[in-house]
Amino acid sequence: MFKDNKKKIVVFLFMAVCVAVSMAAHNPEAKQQGFKDLQVLPKDISHDSLDHVMHFFTKALGVRCDFCHAKSKDSTQRWPDFAADKPEKTAARHMLVMAAEINSKYFNWMGSTMPDTIHVVTCMTCHHGSPHPESMVTMDPPRQPMGQPGQAANGQTPPPPAKQ
Ligand code: HEC
Ligand code: HEC
Repeated sequence: MFKDNKKKIVVFLFMAVCVAVSMAAHNPEAKQQGFKDLQVLPKDISHDSLDHVMHFFTKALGVRCDFCHAKSKDSTQRWPDFAADKPEKTAARHMLVMAAEINSKYFNWMGSTMPDTIHVVTCMTCHHGSPHPESMVTMDPPRQPMGQPGQAANGQTPPPPAKQ
């Protein structure tokens, strides 16, 4: 499925990244940057742009790199093996594709010819700093009494309206 979407998908998160990444994606001359397993992001994305995208992920989900990146098999390596697979990394790829589709399908009412530059919905929109966005409203009992007519919700009589 990533194949079909590849051309359309350039993902991004802040303006600076957007610009850098979109340019890379539209520049066939651009050099591969040596990443081994990019399936969704442009293969020729610069190190800086990739770095921005990854840091954005950590902020949007409130996690560290190793939430999505597996430990290196080489125990002398302090860093994860960034190219290796891990379920969370696969999930993040699906999320990238999903967000790009939502933007290009549902937020392109201006008819942009570059729908891949629309970034209304991002990881942050749903995740808000958590790996598990709330899917339900928690039905806690109200913390304060509902208040009678003429009273504020906290049960106190509101101050009289200010005189003109
Ligand atoms: C929410 C999940 C997530 C987090 C958190 C995350 N990454 Fe990634 N990372 C990905 C995904 C997904 C890809 C592959 C993108 C693709 O297939 O186009 C990737 C790819 C990479 C790659 C390229 C690997 C290769 O050779 O193909 C590097 C390097 C990388 N990440 C570094 C980092 C660093 C450093 C951090 C922490 C600052 C980080 N990542 C945090 C999901 C994540
Ligand atoms: C439209 C809302 C929405 C957007 C946008 C979104 N996500 Fe998610 N994401 C979810 C929901 C809902 C889940 C399932 C949460 C759960 O498992 O509790 C989820 C799950 C995930 C998971 C799996 C978490 C786990 O514990 O396995 C990862 C990783 C993830 N999202 C990364 C991302 C990244 C990266 C982006 C931005 C490219 C993104 N998401 C954008 C709603 C969204």
